[in-house]
Amino acid sequence: MAMQKSRGEKDDVENRLATTASVKDSSVSLLRVISVLIIFVVGVVIGLVSSSHIDSYFRIQQFYTNRAPAFDDRNCTIVINTCETEDCLSMKSFIRPKNLTHGLSDEELFWRASLVPKKEEFPFNRVPKVAFMFLTRGPLPLLPLWERFFKGEDEKKYSIYVHAQPGFQLNVPNSSVFYRRQIPSRRVEWGTVSLVDAEKRLLANALLDFSNERFVLLSESCIPVYNFPAVYGYLTGSMHSFVQSYDDPSRYGRGRYSRRMQPDIRLADWRKGSQWFELNRYLAAIVVAETKYYSIFKKHCRPSCYPDEHYLPTFLHKFYGAMNANRTVTYVDWSVIAPHPGTFTAVNVTEGFIRSIRNNGTACSYNLKSTTTVCYLFARKFTPDALEPLLNLSSEVMRY
Ligand SMILES: *[C@@H]1O[C@H](CO)[C@@H](O)[C@H](O)[C@H]1NC(C)=O
Ligand SMILES: *[C@@H]1O[C@H](CO)[C@@H](O)[C@H](O)[C@H]1NC(C)=O
Ligand SMILES: *[C@@H]1O[C@H](CO)[C@@H](O)[C@H](O)[C@H]1NC(C)=O
Ligand SMILES: *[C@@H]1O[C@H](CO)[C@@H](O)[C@H](O)[C@H]1NC(C)=O
Ligand SMILES: *[C@@H]1O[C@H](CO)[C@@H](O)[C@H](O)[C@H]1NC(C)=O
Ligand SMILES: *[C@@H]1O[C@H](CO)[C@@H](O)[C@H](O)[C@H]1NC(C)=O
Ligand SMILES: *[C@@H]1O[C@H](CO)[C@@H](O)[C@H](O)[C@H]1NC(C)=O
Repeated sequence: MAMQKSRGEKDDVENRLATTASVKDSSVSLLRVISVLIIFVVGVVIGLVSSSHIDSYFRIQQFYTNRAPAFDDRNCTIVINTCETEDCLSMKSFIRPKNLTHGLSDEELFWRASLVPKKEEFPFNRVPKVAFMFLTRGPLPLLPLWERFFKGEDEKKYSIYVHAQPGFQLNVPNSSVFYRRQIPSRRVEWGTVSLVDAEKRLLANALLDFSNERFVLLSESCIPVYNFPAVYGYLTGSMHSFVQSYDDPSRYGRGRYSRRMQPDIRLADWRKGSQWFELNRYLAAIVVAETKYYSIFKKHCRPSCYPDEHYLPTFLHKFYGAMNANRTVTYVDWSVIAPHPGTFTAVNVTEGFIRSIRNNGTACSYNLKSTTTVCYLFARKFTPDALEPLLNLSSEVMRY
């Protein structure tokens, strides 16, 4: 039926083309042109006369839309209730969500977070921020140390995100920099891909703030070993991201590779590294958007393969190696081969120990040109009882 109709139309058009072609007789066509011109002028006059009617017609339409209780189409304002209104194209909540609570699914969140502006300049004064992303089970026992670290620092230069197990409520006074900084979370099982999911969730929530430029993953047992200005300068001034990525020939490295990952991931691509990464905004958006390699790891990297130790190091090595410093800025003690790194308790926290993390005489490369004795900005793992001696040392040794 539809087929026939369109063919009919086509025939009609061909007929019309045929007629115009055949009317080559100039006198007939001149007459036609004149009559068309007359009809056109008459049409314009009629149109001008009736335009006042059209105007009043639109005014009536507008009257009806204005009657709609919740929506004003002139300036796009949603009236939520009698005392609360929000401009639905407001720049403020677009560039930085006010409320970290939201009902987005991971799929929706990752999609939103992966949106990258095409325009390079920002229509506001953008101060690059460091996003401190805490991946925790429950409470933050070293929180007083972090409070001291952030105390008095420019709020425009950092933001804090906490991903705890669902149901856990971080209880801090409203004066705390951690107040209302918890993001919607899902259950995390250490050693599984759900850990990578939580990392991506932290990255995605932090990406929603367009001022966040550097993204550092931390845990409840992490401490800062330098003060805020030093950490901020080091990270924002770096041309590389800090994701440890190396080839470990042992069974703890290459031994975890599965041939089923071929051809996308070959043994030569396989890398290992610390879970505690630091990414710039460019790479953070790529990681949140990436699904191909994530799916391969989800399927084929199961204990004793740990996605959190191989996914990012391998993915970055394969595609973005030149952007990576290949080292971590979070110190951890692996001197004893064990499933978990060395844990530092109160007795281990001495001035000499903290100074050796800050500078142990080793040179690390920074921005290719130079080297620095500052290799680590953070350290782990510290037990809750280490808090008191750490607070004791913070101003003298860590300078905060
Ligand atoms: C939008 O229109 C409403 C109602 O006319 C007005 O109250 C509000 O101030 C306007 N907002 C802006 C941003 O112009
Ligand atoms: C934050 O958003 C959630 C859900 O969207 C809402 O329930 C909560 O009241 C909001 N909090 C504030 C302080 O606006
Ligand atoms: C913070 O909490 C205190 C007491 O809990 C309360 O008096 C104060 O109004 C709160 N301030 C804000 C800004 O919510
Ligand atoms: C990090 O490793 C990649 C190879 O994955 C290499 O291309 C890059 O130059 C290394 N980065 C630095 C700073 O040496
Ligand atoms: C912490 O100190 C104790 C006692 O001196 C020591 O046995 C332990 O090895 C130290 N831990 C680490 C990770 O260095
Ligand atoms: C300093 O730290 C690096 C990296 O952890 C390590 O390889 C090196 O042995 C340390 N040097 C000393 C003198 O402790
Ligand atoms: C704090 O440090 C001082 C000297 O640096 C020391 O005498 C004191 O015992 C320390 N206190 C604690 C609780 O570690």
